[in-house]
Amino acid sequence: MAGDRTDEWSWIKDSSGWIPPVIDTSRPSVARMYDFYLGGKDHFAVDRDAAEQVMRGFPDVAEAARANREFLVRSVRAMAGDGIDQFLDLGTGIPTPPNTHEAARQIHPGASIAYVDNDPVVMVHNRALLASDDQTVTVMHDLRDPATVLADPMIRSVIDFGRPVGLLMIAVLHFVDVVSAPMITSRYYRELAPGSQVAISVGVRDGIDPEIVAAGEKVYAKSNAPAFLRSVVQVGELLDGVEPVAPGLEDIYRSDQVHIVGVRATRA
Ligand SMILES: C[S@@+](CC[C@H](N)C(=O)[O-])C[C@H]1O[C@@H](n2cnc3c(N)ncnc32)[C@H](O)[C@@H]1O
Repeated sequence: MAGDRTDEWSWIKDSSGWIPPVIDTSRPSVARMYDFYLGGKDHFAVDRDAAEQVMRGFPDVAEAARANREFLVRSVRAMAGDGIDQFLDLGTGIPTPPNTHEAARQIHPGASIAYVDNDPVVMVHNRALLASDDQTVTVMHDLRDPATVLADPMIRSVIDFGRPVGLLMIAVLHFVDVVSAPMITSRYYRELAPGSQVAISVGVRDGIDPEIVAAGEKVYAKSNAPAFLRSVVQVGELLDGVEPVAPGLEDIYRSDQVHIVGVRATRA
């Protein structure tokens, strides 16, 4: 069962009963900008303006977003093919089919999924999508607080950390500063049972003109989640505690303007 959803609003609370603020349409949201890149409908003028500014500087950002989404689906299918039937998806994003639960259930029809995001729009849309699904929960947390995420009773109502879990951090760790991120990822890894798997994708600065990097970071600095484009070497720091599986760290998308790398790894 999906936790103690005792009243009609409990879906939008975290486990402490906190109700998120009214949706902020005064500054761009990275979830809503990404939805715009992917051709979705869930964005406001402020998001479109910021996204169009990014697309003027980086005309292939939408193509890169689609390639990233394909990596997500590929990773979930590979994990499910290896027997994993429960997934913790951190930095979920606004629903875009096929979503994690849909990709997983093509292989394990009973798969359970905990979606975590800190954007209220993601909560609203996931709730609408998954209203009658007892094996899926969506909770609002900041993934930079792993202790709170991992203790959440709604997450624990669908994820058994004594069994292998598929942990997804797709296109979200570039919103976490370079120094803190490795401590955060390794805290999540420590919770995972042997046989668990992790998939990460992240935007990197390697091969991109520093002025282009700075221009992109400048637009995101005005959003709800400033971006930090790290180096490929720094991505390696996010893998402390897990073992990459072939082909290891790969380019998911690479052009003169956008470079996204991804990796799937196992918890021994
Ligand atoms: C670019 S989207 C990626 C969505 C999805 N993972 C994908 O790859 O298609 C990044 C998502 O991470 C969420 N996010 C950013 N910072 C976060 C944080 N500190 N905690 C939780 N979610 C966060 C955003 O709200 C957004 O929905």
